[in-house]
Amino acid sequence: MRGLCSFAGVFASRPEAPRWFRGFVTETQTDQARIAVVTGGSSGIGRDAALRLAQRGLRVVLTFNTNAGGALEAVRSIEAAGGVAAAVALDLGDVETFPAFTAQVQELSEGWGRATFDALINNAGASVGIAPFADVTPAMLDDAYRLLFKAPYLLTQALVPFLADNSSIVNVSSTAGLATGIAQDCTAYGAMKAAISIWTRTLAKELSTRGIRVNAVAPGPTATRFGRSEVPADQRAPDPDGVAAIMAGVTSRIALGRFGTSDDVGRLIAMLASDDGSWMTGETLNVSGGFGL
Ligand SMILES: NC(=O)c1ccc[n+]([C@@H]2O[C@H](COP(=O)([O-])OP(=O)(O)OC[C@H]3O[C@@H](n4cnc5c(N)ncnc54)[C@H](OP(=O)(O)O)[C@@H]3O)[C@@H](O)[C@H]2O)c1
Repeated sequence: MRGLCSFAGVFASRPEAPRWFRGFVTETQTDQARIAVVTGGSSGIGRDAALRLAQRGLRVVLTFNTNAGGALEAVRSIEAAGGVAAAVALDLGDVETFPAFTAQVQELSEGWGRATFDALINNAGASVGIAPFADVTPAMLDDAYRLLFKAPYLLTQALVPFLADNSSIVNVSSTAGLATGIAQDCTAYGAMKAAISIWTRTLAKELSTRGIRVNAVAPGPTATRFGRSEVPADQRAPDPDGVAAIMAGVTSRIALGRFGTSDDVGRLIAMLASDDGSWMTGETLNVSGGFGL
C-alpha cells in the first residue's frame, strides 16, 4: 500500500497573484487586541487556523504566495465574522525577503496599536521532495529543506524580536515526521518534518526564558489540496495514477475512518496558540484521527 505522500504530489494549479493585490491590507484600527501571524493562510490548514484565531479575538496577518484569491477570501471570511485581518505576500523560498516581511508585520502591528505581536503559526508548506528514495535528486532534497525547514527556521529568527514575551509559536509538522506515521516516498519530506519537531523542542527551551511557548502539530491525512479531495468527483481529471485507490488505502489506516478536515487541525493550532495551551511547550501533537494506530 502506498502512503500519504504518494498522492500528495497531486496539486491543483494556482493563479498568479495580481500586482494590485501584492501587499494587500485591510483597514487599520488602533486598540490593544492580540495579533497572530499565519504563514500559508490562503488555503487549507492555515486558512482555517486563521479563522479560528480570529474567532478567539486575535487580529490576523496571513500570508499567501501564489493564491491571492484564496488569501482575499480568507480575509473576507474573517471580516464577515466580525474579525480583523490582513493578507501579505510572502515567498518562503526567498529568505532575502524576510526582513521586508518583518517590517510589514511591524507596520501592521503599529497600525493596530501594538509594537509586538502574540502568535506565530509556521504553517506554509507543500508536498516537496516526495519520491522513492532512489529517485530523490539533490535539487528535490534542497527544495524540501528550503521550504519545510530553512524557511520557518529563518522566518522565526527574523520575527522573534517582535514576538511579545509570554506569546506562542505553533509549527506545522506532519505524521510523516513521526515514528508512528511513516509513509512511503517520504524519506525527504518526513525527515524535514521530523526536524521541525526537534527544532520545536530545542527552541521551546531557548525561548522559555521569555515565557514564549513553542509547540507543533503533526497532522495526518487532511483534506486540502494535498490530496485534491476538495475537488468534487465530477470535476476531477481522469485518474490514471489511481489516486482514488491510494486515498482509500490511506483512509483504511486512519482509526476514525476519514481524512481530517483543515478545521480539525486549525482548531487545535488556535487552541495551542491561545491561553488554553498556557502550560504546554516543546510538544508535537499528533492530530490525525489515529493514523497508524
Ligand atoms: N494536508 C495534509 O494531509 C497534511 C498532512 C500533514 C502536514 N501538512 C502540512 O500542513 C501545512 C499546510 O498544508 P495544507 O495541507 O493546508 O496545504 P495547502 O492547502 O496547499 O496550503 C499550503 C499553504 O502554504 C503556502 N505555500 C506553499 N508554498 C509556499 C511558498 N514557497 N512560500 C510561501 N507560501 C507557500 C500556500 O500558499 P499559496 O497557495 O498562496 O501559494 C498555501 O497557503 C503544510 O506545512 C503541510 O506540509 C499537511
